[in-house]
Amino acid sequence: MLKGRHLIEPGDFTLEELEGLFSLAERIEGDESYLRDSCRGRLLATLFFEPSTRTRLSFEAAMLRLGGSCLGFAEPGSSSAAKGESLADTIRTVSCYADAIVMRNPKEGAALLASRFSAVPVINAGDGGHHHPTQTLTDLLTIRRLRGGLGNLTIGFCGDLKFGRTVHSLAKTLARYTEVREIFISPPELKVPGYIRGGLEKGMIPCREAERLEDVIGDLDVLYMTRVQRERFFNEEDYIRLKDFYILTREKMENARPDLIVLHPLPRVNEIALEVDSDPRAAYFKQAKYGMYVRMALLASILGAVSC
Ligand code: CP
Repeated sequence: MLKGRHLIEPGDFTLEELEGLFSLAERIEGDESYLRDSCRGRLLATLFFEPSTRTRLSFEAAMLRLGGSCLGFAEPGSSSAAKGESLADTIRTVSCYADAIVMRNPKEGAALLASRFSAVPVINAGDGGHHHPTQTLTDLLTIRRLRGGLGNLTIGFCGDLKFGRTVHSLAKTLARYTEVREIFISPPELKVPGYIRGGLEKGMIPCREAERLEDVIGDLDVLYMTRVQRERFFNEEDYIRLKDFYILTREKMENARPDLIVLHPLPRVNEIALEVDSDPRAAYFKQAKYGMYVRMALLASILGAVSC
């Protein structure tokens, strides 16, 4: 049962609970009126201390489609955080007003801290370079829908694997499924953190690193592109040097499998050329839509509108 639970990192839910969420999301996708009004009278607080388009708006769309309402802020300057209020006090206060809190914060561990001070469920919408569990739900639902399942696949993560929290969450979670192979494609400066790679190796998950996308693209079932995270760099020079290290082009796609799917959590900057958007293997905008369905399933479950 997910009713009343926090979601701080993807490992908080069992595989059976994830399966329940995906089945529910697919049911909502098939009949958008299903669960309409199931959250009438309930309030969702969206507290975004960092910019967002998809996560915040898909959560708000999800809550409105379920018949509930939303309140919150899209940037911290409009909250009392700007006057020096602690996160703990903000969360204690907001949990007096709302039935659940979705929070994005630049500090790793902020969502966990918030959950300790909240009287209502807290959903982590990204904590620094750490985790982004609802993006993982989105990614898994997309892979499941487009490939028919979550096991037996080779996934390549490409780009900024050091700061990319969506990569950290997805790499860890996919390792819980059978016959998953992971390839980390990055420049040396942006390698996946040791704690992620070490966790996979401990679990005997086949994984390796590569520098050139061209060398491995033909091996992949799923290519997960990411942008270089400018906001987490300490100096602009390094960002400029690395930002265009990978650009997925139509020419590179010629060497990929016909049934590859290309994912990207978005926003895209320059790492996927616009010419790739019309390739039937480009799935990143479908992925953004699946994000809303899975967040509807999550909210309905956590708020107890449905048993999952
Ligand atoms: N994928 C994702 O987190 O997008 P936003 O930053 O726009 O929310």
